[in-house]
Amino acid sequence: MKILVTGGLGFIGSHTVVELQKEGYQVVIIDNLSNSSLDVLEGIVSITGIKPIFEQLDLKDKTKVQTFFKKHQDLQGVIHFAASKAVGESVNKPLLYYENNINTLVYVLQELEKLEIANFIFSSSCTVYGQADTMPISEDAPIQKAQSPYGNTKQIGEEIIQDTCKITPQLQAIALRYFNPIGAHESVKIGELPIGVPQNLVPFITQTAAGIREQLSVFGNDYRTPDGTCIRDYIHVVDIAKAHVIALQRLLDKKNETDFEIFNLGTGTGSSVLEVIQAFERVSGEKLNYKIVDRRAGDVVSAYADTTKANQILGWKAKYNLEDAMLSAWKWQQQL
Ligand code: WQD
Repeated sequence: MKILVTGGLGFIGSHTVVELQKEGYQVVIIDNLSNSSLDVLEGIVSITGIKPIFEQLDLKDKTKVQTFFKKHQDLQGVIHFAASKAVGESVNKPLLYYENNINTLVYVLQELEKLEIANFIFSSSCTVYGQADTMPISEDAPIQKAQSPYGNTKQIGEEIIQDTCKITPQLQAIALRYFNPIGAHESVKIGELPIGVPQNLVPFITQTAAGIREQLSVFGNDYRTPDGTCIRDYIHVVDIAKAHVIALQRLLDKKNETDFEIFNLGTGTGSSVLEVIQAFERVSGEKLNYKIVDRRAGDVVSAYADTTKANQILGWKAKYNLEDAMLSAWKWQQQL
């Protein structure tokens, strides 16, 4: 079974390639290396001993995408990670996000329309929910107006897939809405590689503890939460990766009930920023240097997943807890 993984050298993509190879799939990776490096390919091979086919290719180049699919007519499925994903950056560079996240999706789907078999897994995000009214958040929670161009590209992406599935019988798709992916593979050979100053909480914590950053700024402690800091559903990246293999297998086995299904991927547990810091201090034995500063624009107060649908229908449940994930992130940072 040959599976294409776009963005396969990225954070979640690389962990998913490892899980696919462990299940015996032949993996083809497309990555333009705009937010990754070939070291990640070496990391994958050092874990599984299997070298995926790798094509450095920018999916914004429609002709190159067409040439690629002509060469790989025997693909059984596509897992589409390739996209830009920094919320803050997307506000300053909306057209870069609309071009990179939307055009590439359209070009890949146009090629799938030509294939007999078109199983498609889409990397979506809990961002589509905005600030949901009720917690935990289930898949039928209303989609709120996106708070960033990044979030908008995920909402538009789901709609493009939905509309295409309606008129393309062979296209069967699943969108996976990630909550907050964190952590690294236990082998410490792959993990999160934020380029520049990390936007996300966990890499900033580990870089502060490693002395790369002076101090963590906690963006506000005056929210209506037990300790005043925002709540999120932090989920181990390996749990996320395993869910992709299960979702792909569901489509390959034709077990999906509709041609476009949507699942939340979270632990179902919400953790505040201070709880994440405390979990890090417990597992690392390090005292973290942080200060409370003003709120960050665009942050939602609370977001954690109702995981019932994925648990019951996908038969998937997150195995790692917050401490496991924080320890894996810290071990990864130390070897970096
Ligand atoms: C988590 C919490 C911050 C940094 C984003 C994207 C989402 C998904 C996951 C792609 C918030 C606080 C953070 C810092 C802090 N990515 N924080 N100091 O914003 O929940 O989600 O990443 O799909 O789409 O929106 O993640 O890690 O940036 O923030 O206090 O230096 O940590 O305020 O409460 P977020 P995050």
